[in-house]
Amino acid sequence: MSTEADAVSGAELDAELAELLDVETFEPPAGFREQALLKDPAVYEQAASDPQAWWVAQAEELDWFQKWNRVLDDDDPPFYKWFVGGSLNVSYNCLDRHVIAGLGDRVALHWRGEDGQERDIAYAELLAEVERFASALKDLGVQKGDVVGIYLPMIPEVVVAMLACARIGAPHNVVFGGFSAEAVRERMEFSQAKVLITVDGAARKGKTAPVKDRVDEAMGDLASLEKIVVVKSKGIPCQMREGRDVYYEDILAAADPACPAEPLDAEHPLYILYTSGSTAKPKGILHTTGGYLTGVSATHRYVFDLKAESDVYWCAADVGWVTGHSYIVYGPLCNGATSVMWEGAPDYPNKGIWWEIVERYGVTILYCAPTAIRACIKWGAEWPGKHDLQSLRLLGSVGEPINPKAWLWYHKVIGGERCPIVDTWWQTETGAIMITPLPGITATKPGSATQPFPGVFAEVLDESTGEPVEEGQGLLVLTHPWPSMLRTLYKEEERFIETYFKRFGRDIYLVGDAARRDRDGYIWVIGRIDDVVNVSGHRLSTAEVESAIVAHAEVAEAAVIGQHDEDTGQAIVAFVTLQGDIQGDDGTVEGIRETVSGRIGKFARPKRIIWTGDLPKTRSGKIMRRLLRDIAEGRALGDVTTLRDPAVMQQLEDQVKELRAEEE
Ligand code: WT7
Repeated sequence: MSTEADAVSGAELDAELAELLDVETFEPPAGFREQALLKDPAVYEQAASDPQAWWVAQAEELDWFQKWNRVLDDDDPPFYKWFVGGSLNVSYNCLDRHVIAGLGDRVALHWRGEDGQERDIAYAELLAEVERFASALKDLGVQKGDVVGIYLPMIPEVVVAMLACARIGAPHNVVFGGFSAEAVRERMEFSQAKVLITVDGAARKGKTAPVKDRVDEAMGDLASLEKIVVVKSKGIPCQMREGRDVYYEDILAAADPACPAEPLDAEHPLYILYTSGSTAKPKGILHTTGGYLTGVSATHRYVFDLKAESDVYWCAADVGWVTGHSYIVYGPLCNGATSVMWEGAPDYPNKGIWWEIVERYGVTILYCAPTAIRACIKWGAEWPGKHDLQSLRLLGSVGEPINPKAWLWYHKVIGGERCPIVDTWWQTETGAIMITPLPGITATKPGSATQPFPGVFAEVLDESTGEPVEEGQGLLVLTHPWPSMLRTLYKEEERFIETYFKRFGRDIYLVGDAARRDRDGYIWVIGRIDDVVNVSGHRLSTAEVESAIVAHAEVAEAAVIGQHDEDTGQAIVAFVTLQGDIQGDDGTVEGIRETVSGRIGKFARPKRIIWTGDLPKTRSGKIMRRLLRDIAEGRALGDVTTLRDPAVMQQLEDQVKELRAEEE
């Protein structure tokens, strides 16, 4: 319920934001520029004129056991190798070297549990636990090169597990905690994981959700999986299978406290992370060691203008996504940063929890997704208004285009008009931020990710001619290799080439996003060109959701599209044909949503389900999604003459109208 006072301040805020809408560009605040790590725009030209020298300078910031003898091996594109012959260890760079430098007492993580429990973990402590757990993994038989699955919520052990894997050269395969156990099984199977690290239960807004028991149900007798390690996080009972399952705490206690970091080749696989593509089968993005760490540490330092001694950095993503891998774990720890890690949701125990955390730990840098900002706008400026946010000096955004209104609200209400905003564009595939302002240099425009990071080369190509677009819309590409790029799709080399390096050749990376270049050369990312939808920054393929829907016993066929949505950016709309004469009702809708939850995860549940006797198909049987999108958006229909049965469209339009009326 909003009070009169709120309503007034809301209207005032709206008026002030409307005024800001006329401002085209925002220069870095003078005070910020003066103290920024990078303030001379010449850095762009220097990096462009000799990108390898630029990346070498970044790689020099890391500790190498052995230096490389060749910076970039580009003999066989798109199979690039960086820092060839070099050897290093990611966990050594994230932990040991800081402790050796005398920074062992510095807090690495201010962890905060959903129930308000707090744990400050210093670098030395984190190192000690990582060493022990790395030893424990070895005791379980994990060897260099073995894949280890990780399915954990936002608890410190997830960081320990990732770093322990990195320490012994066992590539990890983290599955976001919001994915279902079924999705975990699939990813364990694809990657042939030998061990899975999971948890008894996870906090969900005041309740505890069982995790291990669900995992057991889904895992069945997956032969490749030899061991399951269970963290006792919530202390709930769970089934433990004799000979396969062990408790994290038990193996830790029994393990050798010393486990020196293994020197690994610069191209040794660091992790696999599954993400959605055009087909139902997720793609296993493979990242390696030296180039990846170079990319994430350099971008983390310069994009966030990190002063490790004084900043308190908070990336409010989940470790299960690439944002968490690169900017909760590897980038910040490699740079010796002090971070905040929050276990819970942004609206529990109340809608002010984020701002309470900012105040409590004196957060100086906040990095989050536009969907979260839009939610905060909806909840009202009174929530952040209750807290002192003066510590903030820089704000970041990631995951989807940020609409100017949300940008301005973030700028004004959260940043108090003194914090630069970095809108960072990148992908699971790119490993690190690719297009972004540099906060002490770049004049920002709300909604634009602005310019490629130094050493990165982006172009917008005309869809039909393939020629670079000076001003206007086209396909976003990256035209030079970069150190943190994916090396392949795990066990799917052909698909790797097909997906990214077919359209414009083997040396031009096709991003999969459409973008616009404005007259100042600024890049505005518009959205995906493939059948990928972005729901609250969560990447899903329409085919993946469709196959989950047809797994429902009563469904004959389904087509899924992404529809523009105020809150989540895009929402999933499913057109569903039921079997025989079955009539869909609320129960069927719920049943389908449940099926999708079980197969993929709650976040993939369709927002709208539209029943249809048939789907609009071409004579060759291809579903015409374009028409479905037109219908869902209430647009005039394009050409329907190629349809096998044009009457289908009329029926559908009526359906959608009815649904709209119901919703209103
Ligand atoms: C896709 C990648 C990058 C980590 C989180 C998402 C979209 C991402 C932006 C941005 C506009 C963005 C793109 C991209 N995207 N950041 N700042 N502006 N769009 O990683 O799950 O691999 O998704 O997210 O469409 O291709 P991801």
